[in-house]
Amino acid sequence: MSIPPMAGPAFDADPYPAYDWLRRHAPVSKVPLPGCEAWLVTRYADAVAALTHPALAKDPAKGSPEWQAASLGLPLDHRPSLARHMINTDPPDHSRLRRLVSAAFTPRRIAGLRDRAQQVTDELLAKLDGKDEADLIADLAYPLPITIICDLLGVPEGDRATFHHHASVIDSAAASEVGAITAATDALEEFLTDLVAAKRTHPGDDLLTELVKRPDISLDELTSTAFLLLIAGHETTVALIGNGMLALLRHPSQLAAVREDPAILPDVVDEMLRYDGPLRNATWRFPTEPVVIGGQEMLPGEPILIALLSANRDPEAFPDPDEFRPGRHGEPHLAFGRGAHYCIGAALAKIEGEAAIGTLLRKFPDIALAADPATLTWWPSAIMRGLFSLPVRLR
Ligand code: HEM
Repeated sequence: MSIPPMAGPAFDADPYPAYDWLRRHAPVSKVPLPGCEAWLVTRYADAVAALTHPALAKDPAKGSPEWQAASLGLPLDHRPSLARHMINTDPPDHSRLRRLVSAAFTPRRIAGLRDRAQQVTDELLAKLDGKDEADLIADLAYPLPITIICDLLGVPEGDRATFHHHASVIDSAAASEVGAITAATDALEEFLTDLVAAKRTHPGDDLLTELVKRPDISLDELTSTAFLLLIAGHETTVALIGNGMLALLRHPSQLAAVREDPAILPDVVDEMLRYDGPLRNATWRFPTEPVVIGGQEMLPGEPILIALLSANRDPEAFPDPDEFRPGRHGEPHLAFGRGAHYCIGAALAKIEGEAAIGTLLRKFPDIALAADPATLTWWPSAIMRGLFSLPVRLR
């Protein structure tokens, strides 16, 4: 028996049978990637062990020479001005950077973003008045999070479209499109360096201004943190709204239930994250000493991916994992990761998801899919899982 194909349109359309096979037959195994191999961890318990393991580093400098040479379409991992952020660091730098950003993510700022998410959603959906059909990705899922993240960072209105373009190239292009990714990365690097400088001379009421005032963060760390927040806070939420609405529209009884009782919306959004979440895999990790997970020994530097989509469908953690069933009790899903690098924007992502999905269902009670799910196309990314478009009938 050999490992099923882990790339290509068929896998992108439905990766779950391949993950099911791996969990049964090769739960921790080496999979081929362009230029090198990586360990893929697919069971829930092993995923938790890997996400929380103290000897698995996040610093890309700890990756093997083969992984470094393969580059894997991520030139940004090797640029100090974009790569010195918390997801690429280990203690003590990780703890310091995470504390600084958490302190700027104040409850007052998050509460303000709830009202803002609702306002932006209302404005976007007002543009659909009188229309019979829409593309939920272009009309709602893309513009909502980019607006919120730009508000958070204090990006001027006139620069937002350019920002959006570069971010989407970096997040959802295939790893092989190195030229396009590099060009977008160059442009963003220049833009963010200018933005940080502008916050020093023209402070605003935004998170970046608050970070710029701190003495214990370097210039590279500032631009890198702005870059991380942009990337991590954007396409992920696009995918939550897109993948989540696709799942709900394919489950009419669950759709009817939340329409009847909007109080269950938070449970529905949580199940969307488990059932078909935005991240295929967690970001890279590298052992700093020999580490055994799921019975496999991983050597220092060997690259590791943790298949979050697979862990979230593990029947050992979620009974009947392929059923979309809001209100599950038991193990928490891993869509936001676990441990020291647990998603810092989880509360914000849920606020945006609930505003978008709740308002859609209220405003368009007869919303339905307007395409055969088999014809939908998915981003070819190694880390992200999201749709290029999601056509719906509004009435
Ligand atoms: C549904 C939307 C989102 C999902 C599914 C998601 C998922 C994740 C996951 C899985 C991780 C951990 C990665 C790892 O351990 O390798 C993570 C980390 C992170 N996320 Fe999110 N995220 C979402 C939205 C956001 C938003 C809106 C923001 C910010 C505005 C954000 C900021 C971050 C940051 C800064 C980290 C790094 C934390 C650290 O390294 O300590 N995320 N996210």
